[in-house]
Amino acid sequence: MVKRIVVENPVDPKILGDALTFPTSKKVAKNRFMKAPLSENLAKWDPTNPAISGAASNLHVNLYEKWAAGGFGIVLTGNIMVDQMHLESPGNTIITKELDLPHRREIWKNLASKAKQHGTLIVAQISHAGRQTALIVNQHPFSSSDVQLKRDAYGREYGVPIALTEEQIKTEIIEKFVYTSKVLYECGFDGVELHGAHGYLIAQFLSRTTNKRTDKYGGSPQNRARIVTEIYEAIRKEIPESTGFIVGIKLNSVEFQREGLTNEEAIQIAKEIDNVGFDFIELSGGTYEEMGFSHKKKSTIAREAFFLEFAEKIKLAIKSAVVYLTGGFRTVPGMVKAVECKGTDGIGLGRPITQDMDFPIKILNGTVQSAVESPFGDDLASNGLACNCQMAQAGLFPYSPDKPLTDGVMDITDEKTLKEFKRAQNEFMQNIIRKMIGKQFYHGIVPYRLNGQGKDFVIEADGLEISLLLRTALCAFLVFLKFQSYMC
Ligand SMILES: Cc1cc2nc3c(=O)[nH]c(=O)nc-3n(C[C@H](O)[C@H](O)[C@H](O)COP(=O)(O)O)c2cc1C
Repeated sequence: MVKRIVVENPVDPKILGDALTFPTSKKVAKNRFMKAPLSENLAKWDPTNPAISGAASNLHVNLYEKWAAGGFGIVLTGNIMVDQMHLESPGNTIITKELDLPHRREIWKNLASKAKQHGTLIVAQISHAGRQTALIVNQHPFSSSDVQLKRDAYGREYGVPIALTEEQIKTEIIEKFVYTSKVLYECGFDGVELHGAHGYLIAQFLSRTTNKRTDKYGGSPQNRARIVTEIYEAIRKEIPESTGFIVGIKLNSVEFQREGLTNEEAIQIAKEIDNVGFDFIELSGGTYEEMGFSHKKKSTIAREAFFLEFAEKIKLAIKSAVVYLTGGFRTVPGMVKAVECKGTDGIGLGRPITQDMDFPIKILNGTVQSAVESPFGDDLASNGLACNCQMAQAGLFPYSPDKPLTDGVMDITDEKTLKEFKRAQNEFMQNIIRKMIGKQFYHGIVPYRLNGQGKDFVIEADGLEISLLLRTALCAFLVFLKFQSYMC
């Protein structure tokens, strides 16, 4: 029996079933639910063999068909990278001119067509990691300015970025976002979402922490937003409004760090974006330096969504675009309240739906009032590993109308499963650290209940650059993990 968060005062979910119309493309999402972007980590990556790197596979097709059948108005993919040298992570899917091959397109076409059969809108999130590209992928990634990411986020190190020239903004960024969008349009996707949040390249332009430019792309919020409006206009030149193609963006509503985006700046940026014609804005928050995917204040716990107080103010300033808010939604009362108080039009769901793939259907037919109770709380790292494992488990088997969508997907609320998963996770972490200390890159999905295919989900590469400081920290962590395994 799946354990769910207890809801003391259930409410009518009806309002969550309202359709949302996108103002520019005129496409309609059948209800308010968005499957938020979740990086799947299911593609291969080999720096010596780019041809196999970042290709989508049937794992992606199966996974997305299940979410599409789960009742979401709109399903977003995990970040698809527009440049193979600027990955959010090895394991990302990639669509670029260099890697645009017929067999790779076939998979995307299949994914889009299967998802659409279930009446959802299928939209690809497209992204460039900028300075948040790990050193193993690129020692000198592009960014808005040369401000290095110092923190060893996720045990990774990051190089000193190269500030893009105005010409490079056109050739290395805008043209690449346009190319990827065009491929997705030709493969039958309903639209794209630019990833402008969480500290990736577009967010590096939007935030004063990382944008020190003195040209037309720096300074005022309007100038910092220029790259976004230019990408939008360049996409629309190739794929006009009349095609019905959706263009949205994920934006931070706030960044909780020194010189980070303030809510007031986010409001001004959102206004620019709204004016130019974006169909929707998905609001989130945080960067690798300060993620924000957890409850920090008592007031946020009461309101459930992490960024609601910031989203409310942004939404007030937006005239046309549909607003989605992502982060923290776990109960129907929380979701209904956020819509009723006009903090958001739509509800983005991330971590809860890797197990509950049909959460919207269950909510709208009155079966459930809340999400599965995560044993990891808000902790992003442990949650992330479990989510990625569940995505892989779902991807292994094709959708079948005769089987529950969650067939083969672990129930993380089951005590025995949780214990086994934690043991597998611990071994996996030890493996990563041992390899890192040996200057090898080891990455992938915790090999738990993957039908004997655990190895297929692991990426190994040589030549990891690693500082003495990080190596010492990792050695200490390895000892800690071994001690923990012993205690299990
Ligand atoms: C495993 C995992 C992968 C994620 N990948 C992406 C991504 O590719 N793009 C993105 O914009 N956000 C990504 N996120 C963030 C989610 O979209 C979402 O903003 C965050 O999880 C907060 O929502 P939640 O509380 O409903 O999980 C990811 C989160 C997790 C846990």
